[in-house]
Amino acid sequence: MGSLGFSLSMIASLSPTLTDSRLVSSVGCISTIVAPSLSSISVVYSPVTKRRARNSGLRYSAASPSMETTADSDVSVVSPATSKKVLVPIGYGTEEIEAVVLVDVLRRAGAEVIVASVEQKLEVEASSGTKLLADVLISKCAEQVFDLVALPGGMPGAVRLRDCGILEKIMKRQVEDKRLYGAISMAPAITLLPWGLLTRKKTTGHPAFFGKLPTFWAVKTNIQISGELTTSRGPGTSFQFALSLVKQLFGESTAMSVQELLLLRDGYQNPKNEEFNSMDWSLNHTPRVLIPVANGSEGVEVVTIADVLRRAKVDVTVASVERSLRITASQSTKIITDKLIGEAAESSYDLLILPGGLAGSERLQKSIILKKLLKEQQETGRIYGATSTSSTVLRKHGLLKEKKTVVYPSDTDGPMNDQMIEGTEVVIDGNVITSLGLATVTNFSLAIVSKLFGYGRARSVSEGLVHEYRGNLTPF
Ligand SMILES: *[C@@H]1O[C@H](CO)[C@@H](O)[C@H](O)[C@H]1NC(C)=O
Ligand SMILES: *[C@@H]1O[C@H](CO)[C@@H](O)[C@H](O)[C@H]1NC(C)=O
Repeated sequence: MGSLGFSLSMIASLSPTLTDSRLVSSVGCISTIVAPSLSSISVVYSPVTKRRARNSGLRYSAASPSMETTADSDVSVVSPATSKKVLVPIGYGTEEIEAVVLVDVLRRAGAEVIVASVEQKLEVEASSGTKLLADVLISKCAEQVFDLVALPGGMPGAVRLRDCGILEKIMKRQVEDKRLYGAISMAPAITLLPWGLLTRKKTTGHPAFFGKLPTFWAVKTNIQISGELTTSRGPGTSFQFALSLVKQLFGESTAMSVQELLLLRDGYQNPKNEEFNSMDWSLNHTPRVLIPVANGSEGVEVVTIADVLRRAKVDVTVASVERSLRITASQSTKIITDKLIGEAAESSYDLLILPGGLAGSERLQKSIILKKLLKEQQETGRIYGATSTSSTVLRKHGLLKEKKTVVYPSDTDGPMNDQMIEGTEVVIDGNVITSLGLATVTNFSLAIVSKLFGYGRARSVSEGLVHEYRGNLTPF
């Protein structure tokens, strides 16, 4: 039906009723919407009903509490009745999209997720180079009981997990006690198999490691549930994997609500990519990309854009606009950036990409150095872009004039712009690229790869991700 699923977080945070203190309860820095209010606010509307919604006062922004007032409240979390405890271990070379999507989606569903390092320290460099900060060392988890233990893949991450004796013990107890466990991409073959935890269980995994799975039990599906064990294929299937785990922990309706939050569409829907004023983005040197981030930036977006571009051999710098290299992204995902924005500003970049996230976008907007960098990018005709709420940053700095973009719920405080292309996931206009964000960010990143290097490179990167990319059926 081509309906646009707007993020609940965006809608909720713009709505005066929904940010009402009766509905939003704060737990530390994470606010949650209490369950009963959820059904009434999970709005997925088509372009047609959207216009109606705008006219009927659903154009929340009228009373818009500015981004400032919502900066600390993260309402993109569903709060189920039961509490569930989940362990996600990470190690050197863990696949960052798989790890962060698991953590992000499970936390959105209301689970208490503990990210534990199997290394000697909390800081862990992931497989494509993102530095993640774990909550605890694995030794702190040895005696705890988890409702779910879920293993991300990646190399050598899956080997690091396999070689961790404490984790092996936790997992074996998990299986003995018949509690849920899961593994994605390389983790089934490289981690669970040597521990003897795949015996007589149908299993899937990353295509490149499929041959290592026990022959008669290997199945080529994105998700395989075999009793307490759930397995999946790769970064491109990690939303499906995480949502399957949410469903098993909390039930179907929570999974559906979270799926809407993530802008994850059902297969039958067919969102478009569109390009206007087509321009050649190819370069005669390795493209250099700057991704400025702040506390509250969307963790999944930061990590996905960086990972996908690095897989395509782009030189990526993730720079913090905060005082410290360390930032706390959405859903409390802790990332150590490569540079502070001041240092990053000493170089110039072929592309400048702003990840979304309400609180993060607000903080990006306040950075004077970033504002200067963006102006330079515009004046020199270089490429820039934004996902979800960060379009606001570009717009407020005057960088979207005469540019066609995707439609953002967060932009409803401005006049409805003729330049917004409804029903699209990714829009390119000359040197500007925008996207809806969250689950659509893989396609956004692959569109960039396609524009820089051609469709072939985007295609091969998407194969490694186990993500279905049909860029050749669209303009890019
Ligand atoms: C941003 O997050 C970092 C890391 O958690 C923290 O140390 C810092 O105080 C935060 N900055 C602000 C302004 O909240
Ligand atoms: C990404 O693009 C593919 C096709 O190229 C499409 O099937 C998918 O629905 C798009 N969106 C997401 C969120 O993956």
